[in-house]
Amino acid sequence: MTQTNVSLPQPRRLGQTSRRDVWWLQPLVVFLGLGAFVIYSTWAAVIGVNYFYGGDGAHYLSPFYSPLVFGTAHEPALFGPRPEWLPIWISPALFILWAPGGFRFTCYYYRGAYYKAFWNDPSNCAVGELRSCYRGEASLPLILQNIHRYFLYLALIFIGILAWDAWKAMWFLDESGHEVWGIGLGTLVLTANVVFLGGYTLGCHSLRHLVGGRLDILSRHKTRKKAYECVSCLNKKHMLWAWMSLFWVGFTDFYVRMCAMGNWTDWRII
Ligand code: FES
Repeated sequence: MTQTNVSLPQPRRLGQTSRRDVWWLQPLVVFLGLGAFVIYSTWAAVIGVNYFYGGDGAHYLSPFYSPLVFGTAHEPALFGPRPEWLPIWISPALFILWAPGGFRFTCYYYRGAYYKAFWNDPSNCAVGELRSCYRGEASLPLILQNIHRYFLYLALIFIGILAWDAWKAMWFLDESGHEVWGIGLGTLVLTANVVFLGGYTLGCHSLRHLVGGRLDILSRHKTRKKAYECVSCLNKKHMLWAWMSLFWVGFTDFYVRMCAMGNWTDWRII
């Protein structure tokens, strides 16, 4: 009987791989895209001005500041004008952004993306890495990523709040101070923001488990089966929704900011 020698896979050095495609391109694009968003959104959140546009009777609020906790006397703030005891460097966005930020940071898709792009752990699938052992997400600190399912509940509330903002963006004050229905370019921008964020949030892996998990025979539960199919349908393109919503939420803030600063004129369609 002949004996065949089988060689076991050898540990690879950092960046070593048999892959022939451009494996470094995707992590690089994620690094640039996500990095640009983090820098812009951090700046927009701490600057604390130009987040609301009320010119021409409009009512556009940046999603980075919604719900608005404190504002000026002319802004739609939950608790009225900003209290004097609040340090000037604390912007209203800082009270709320931890929730959608935490939801995105712990997202299953983004985890896989930024582990590669920012932590080089691994650089990409089947590419050699620095680490010699694999601990996964079953121990501290990454086990904390499991908090994602709780951030989901908050994210769903935020979708409702942003939908309300889009609704408010459909109402304009006329010259006599009465509210009239209308559509401005900002209305479309805020509405698209809810659609993209909704597509991202409603396709969440945790939501998929929430609506269809822990059942032996899903087909016996018609409503839950339908919900499961809808979430699964969005989930198939979760990465696409993630990027579209990320770009658009940043653009929505930028649009409102440009209008508030007087750099752009909101185009009134109806
Ligand atoms: Fe991406 Fe939940 S897995 S939002």
